[in-house]
Amino acid sequence: MRVEAVRGMPDILPEETPLWQYVEAEVREAFAIYGYREIRTPIVERAELFSRGVGEATDIVHKEMYVFPDKKGQLLALRPEATASVVRAYIEHGLHARGGVAKLYYLGPMFRYEKPQKGRKRQFHQYGVEAIGSLDPALDAEVIDLAWYIMERLGLRREGLFLRLNSIGCPEDRPRYREALREHFVPHRERLCPDCQRRLEENPLRILDCKVPTCQEIARDAPRSVDYLCEGCRAHFRELLGYLDALGLAYEMDPKLVRGLDYYTRTVFELASRDLGAQDALLGGGRYDGLVEALGGPPTPGVGFAGGLERLILVLGVREPPDKCFRLIHGPDVYLLPVGEGEKIEALRILAQLRRAGIPSDMDYAGRSLRKRLQAAARSGARCALFLGEEELSRGEVKARDLASGEEEYVPVGELVDYLKRRG
Ligand code: HAM
Repeated sequence: MRVEAVRGMPDILPEETPLWQYVEAEVREAFAIYGYREIRTPIVERAELFSRGVGEATDIVHKEMYVFPDKKGQLLALRPEATASVVRAYIEHGLHARGGVAKLYYLGPMFRYEKPQKGRKRQFHQYGVEAIGSLDPALDAEVIDLAWYIMERLGLRREGLFLRLNSIGCPEDRPRYREALREHFVPHRERLCPDCQRRLEENPLRILDCKVPTCQEIARDAPRSVDYLCEGCRAHFRELLGYLDALGLAYEMDPKLVRGLDYYTRTVFELASRDLGAQDALLGGGRYDGLVEALGGPPTPGVGFAGGLERLILVLGVREPPDKCFRLIHGPDVYLLPVGEGEKIEALRILAQLRRAGIPSDMDYAGRSLRKRLQAAARSGARCALFLGEEELSRGEVKARDLASGEEEYVPVGELVDYLKRRG
């Protein structure tokens, strides 16, 4: 019986990986240019980290988290996101004691038991940043600017993208806003979906991002969080908008944007694509000024975002792969053809030498005839085939054939690297 991959956890095949590598390299470079350094946290954490960090009542923790006991009964989770992990590491390694803002980035797989569909998987990959240690709205603006910069680097048109923005205030503002939402929704309780009836009791903010049409309709004229901000939060948001204007970064105010994680305070945003349909958020983020303290660290503000690589690849996939992928997509430049078994040792030796000189090269190991191997060489996309026959080798030479023009010449083995590099 065949064993297949787990639903929603797809393989990424060799035809696809060059584009992934290209996007990952661009994202890493963008992060580095903005002063972020990589942090790698484990995929498995204590489940409690996310129930305390992200929130017990959120869909991510309540419905979608992969939780399992280890052999000693300790409850562990596959990370559904990385902000809580990064903050845990920040506290555990005393990164706060080093002063200044800790600017950290990550790339890696996350896990959520969601209904798989286009742009939504059970194992997916996030790229993200966390800037921990400052309340300054200029840092929020910088983080949003970085999100735009990544899209620019990847050549995505600004017109195809838009930024949803909102401020959900601080914990002091929250009870008044929650109460206003509750008052709005209670008269419609019966028409809300069963999840939202529960959310009405636990956290009515969550109703705002419910995808059920009736709930959305009832939420349409719900109170807006920006009308319930204290003076400090209002000033923070005003300053942020000023910075975004100064940077020429467009945004659309979205009073219903509350994001599906409980740690957010003040700024929340999503960068969305007009080409993606229902799962249109390329990335999402915001401030989480209470999270470090909630996880046992000193009171420390933070802001960040994360995006899904799958969705980025989807919006890029409609275009030609960029030139930078070309070399990765195509196979070897040089294909070796030892004519008989006797020439194999020399072929392996030459292959090792060419590769060490940085020349992508390969040969056939499937034990096929010379004719079949030559066909394989042509199919591989190599520009040059090197024939190693008994006679040539006895003279210390190989026969090089240009696979496009068919031209041939004899090249001394000792000059091969120079010869191939000269041909470019
Ligand atoms: P999130 O909105 O849950 O936020 O996820 C961020 C991004 O990850 C989404 O915008 C989407 O592109 C991608 N994503 C989420 N779930 C899936 C999925 N099932 N399949 C494919 N892609 C997905 C967070 O995770 C926060 N930790 C972001 C953050 C960082 N906030 C502050 N710092």
